[in-house]
Amino acid sequence: MGERQVLCRRDELVSGEARRFDVAGTRIALVRIEDDFYAIGDRCSHEDYSLGEGEVWADECEIECPQHGSMFDLVTGEPRSFPATTPVPVCGRGRGRRRGAGAPVTATGTLKVSGLHAEAGGAEILHGVDLEVAAGEVHVVMGPNGSGKSTLAHALMGRPGPTVTAGSITIDGTELAGLPSWRRARAGLYLALQHPIEVPGVRLAAVLTEALRETAGDADRVATSLDAEADAIGFDRRFLDRALNVDLSGGERKRNEILQMGVLRPRFAVLDEIDSGLDIDALRSVARRIELATSEWGLGVLAVTHFRRLLQELRADRVHVMVGGRIVAEGGPELADELDTSGYGAYSA
Ligand code: FES
Repeated sequence: MGERQVLCRRDELVSGEARRFDVAGTRIALVRIEDDFYAIGDRCSHEDYSLGEGEVWADECEIECPQHGSMFDLVTGEPRSFPATTPVPVCGRGRGRRRGAGAPVTATGTLKVSGLHAEAGGAEILHGVDLEVAAGEVHVVMGPNGSGKSTLAHALMGRPGPTVTAGSITIDGTELAGLPSWRRARAGLYLALQHPIEVPGVRLAAVLTEALRETAGDADRVATSLDAEADAIGFDRRFLDRALNVDLSGGERKRNEILQMGVLRPRFAVLDEIDSGLDIDALRSVARRIELATSEWGLGVLAVTHFRRLLQELRADRVHVMVGGRIVAEGGPELADELDTSGYGAYSA
């Protein structure tokens, strides 16, 4: 994690407004839209004019240069209208990651996977996986179908199916491999399932209350947290009274996984194909919730996916390519762009 500098208190920046700051000699425009904060270079790329004095277009997530009216995308810095033609820089890690200002990360810790081998159905699927996710970071594992991504996710959580035959899974040095899933959850690990199942007769609030009691969380806040988390991701509050996932669509179940993550506040979340079954609006709200969690309580994220579209919404610090049960390439978010042109065929296990 890099050095953090407090620019202002959260409530000092009104939603829908921009302010100019000087950060280590660089001018930035900080913009608030409701609970999202964006930081982009303050100089309009047409001429040197301050975007911090510009008008914010919240619905479009854009800011307008007050001099000649160029509009800039707050996430990418791309100009959306003339006369500016080149992007302004987006500040911060992860290509303009949205973060909850006013809630600086204090969490530390590391989820470390070392030399992980796992087999399923009598065949070795993972052939020595090494990964390290620090608190507050977002890592994405991409790979084709059958590359071992879901096996990795399940092996980390200790789900039935894969058997770890060698290697280690630790949080801050505490070994999790070999522990039952509930003890891994108690240690701070959470798995959002690719195919969440229905649990008739067991209400969502009851599950979360018991889980928080087991993990020394605040079980008294379940009701209020559920409402807030549901609103954050557009999950219909009427579903909160149902038995877990009963009569929910595939997309609603996926949202429910993130809703539960928001209430439980684990230290590290493994997200197994969280993007499948979500339309673009749902994926966007889910990605925003995940990103805010990285700053709210320092959530570390390991997301596995087949599709690059997740990375268009969820700003990754690190991308890993998995092929044939091995990590064959690692890099920044630009690695996903390379995959777009080269495909997985360019990598071999
Ligand atoms: S100076 Fe910004 S559009 Fe001309």
